[in-house]
Amino acid sequence: MDGFAAPFNLLPDRIERSMTESGHIAPLTVLGIETSCDETAAAVVRRSADGRGEILSNVVHSQLDLHAVYGGVVPEIAARAHVDLLDVALKQAMAEAGINFGSIDGIAAAAGPGLIGGLIAGVTTAKAIALGLGKPFLAVNHLEAHALSAGLTEGLGFPYLLLLVSGGHTQLLIVKDVGAYERLGTTLDDALGEAFDKAAKLLGLGYPGGPEVERLAARGHASIKLPRPMLGRPEPHFSLAGLKTALRHEAVKRAPLNEHDIADLCASFQEAVVDVVSDRATRAMDLYEEQLGPDAQRALVVAGGVAANQRLKRALEKVAATRGFRVVVPPPALCTDNAAMIAWAGAERLARGLTDDLAAPARARWPLDADAPPALGAGVKA
Ligand code: KG4
Ligand code: ZN
Repeated sequence: MDGFAAPFNLLPDRIERSMTESGHIAPLTVLGIETSCDETAAAVVRRSADGRGEILSNVVHSQLDLHAVYGGVVPEIAARAHVDLLDVALKQAMAEAGINFGSIDGIAAAAGPGLIGGLIAGVTTAKAIALGLGKPFLAVNHLEAHALSAGLTEGLGFPYLLLLVSGGHTQLLIVKDVGAYERLGTTLDDALGEAFDKAAKLLGLGYPGGPEVERLAARGHASIKLPRPMLGRPEPHFSLAGLKTALRHEAVKRAPLNEHDIADLCASFQEAVVDVVSDRATRAMDLYEEQLGPDAQRALVVAGGVAANQRLKRALEKVAATRGFRVVVPPPALCTDNAAMIAWAGAERLARGLTDDLAAPARARWPLDADAPPALGAGVKA
C-alpha cells in the first residue's frame, strides 16, 4: 500500500502553507463528515489562528425513522442510507457555510469506531474530495471528536476530565491534549445510552429510549429498589447489564403495567443510573487530581447523547462541587453525533500537522487510549 499512499501525503505542503510569517498556524477551514452510526452529517468549521472555533454550518440528517421500527440501528440499512444522504448533506453544509470548495483547507471524516459500512461511505467520500481538491485528508476518531468538542463550543483548554456517555460508549478519560488521552474507566457490558434504550424497550416505550425514560421518570417516584453495580470500586469502570435485568424482574412482577408503574420503574432506573455515574465520576475526579496534581484545571466535560439528561447533569454538578470541579456540557446538538465535532477534531489535528494519507482505513474498533489495560470482563464495547 506504501507505493500508493506516498504521493497523496499532502502534509509537508499543507504545513508550509498554513504557517504565517510569524510562525503561527493560519486560520483553517475544515469540512467534516460523520457516518459512524445512524446520523448522516456534514459540517464546516473554522479554527482561528488563536485556536478558537467557529461553526459555519452543521447539517445532520437523522435516520431515526428508518431504524425506529426495529428498536435499534440496523447496520446495513444505515450504510445504504448514508450513501443516499451524504451528497445532500454535503451540498447543504457547503451552501449554509457560504463558501466554495476552494476555501477548504482539509477534509475530515469519522474513520471509526463505529459501523463499518457507514464509516467506509464517509471515509471514501472524504478521500475523493481531498484527492479532487488536492487538500489533506484527516481520519478522525469519533471518540476523539466527542472528547474535543468542548474546545469548539466552550473554548475549554487542556487538561480536563471527560465523561463520554452515548448509545455506543461509556468512558471516563483524562484529555491531556490533542492525541493524548488516558482512559480511566469504561463499561464492562452495555453502554449507558444502550441501557436506557433497553430499559425503554422492555417497558414498551419508543426508541431512542433515553429521552422517554427521563420524561416519564419526572412523573414517577424512585420507590422500587434496584442495584447500583460497581459502586465504590476503586477503578471507575461501569457495569449496566445487571441493572437492566433487575429492572426486567421488577417489571415482570408488576405486569400488567399501568402508567404509574411505568413512571415509577423509569424513575427508579434513572436514580440507580445517577447514583452509579455520580460515584464513578467522583472516583475519576480523585484519580485525575492524584495524577495531575492540585493545580490542574478542574473541569468535568460530559459529552454524548446521554449528556442531555438533566437529572444526571444536576447530580453530576452536585458531586463535582464536592471536588472543586465545574461541569461543562456542550449544547445538545453538539453532544449527540454531529459533523461539526468531526471537522473540529480534524482542524485541531491539521493545525498540528497530523494529517493522514489516503490509505488510512475505516476502523470498526479504534480505542482512544490504546495503552489502557483491558478492563476485566469487558465486552466488545470496551
Ligand atoms: O451520542 P448519541 O446521539 O449517539 C451515539 O450513540 O453515538 O447518543 C444516543 C444515546 C441513545 O442511547 C439515547 O437513548 C441516549 O443517547 N439519550 C439519553 C437522553 N437523550 C439521549 N439518555 C438518557 N437521557 C436522555 N435525555
Ligand atoms: Zn457518538
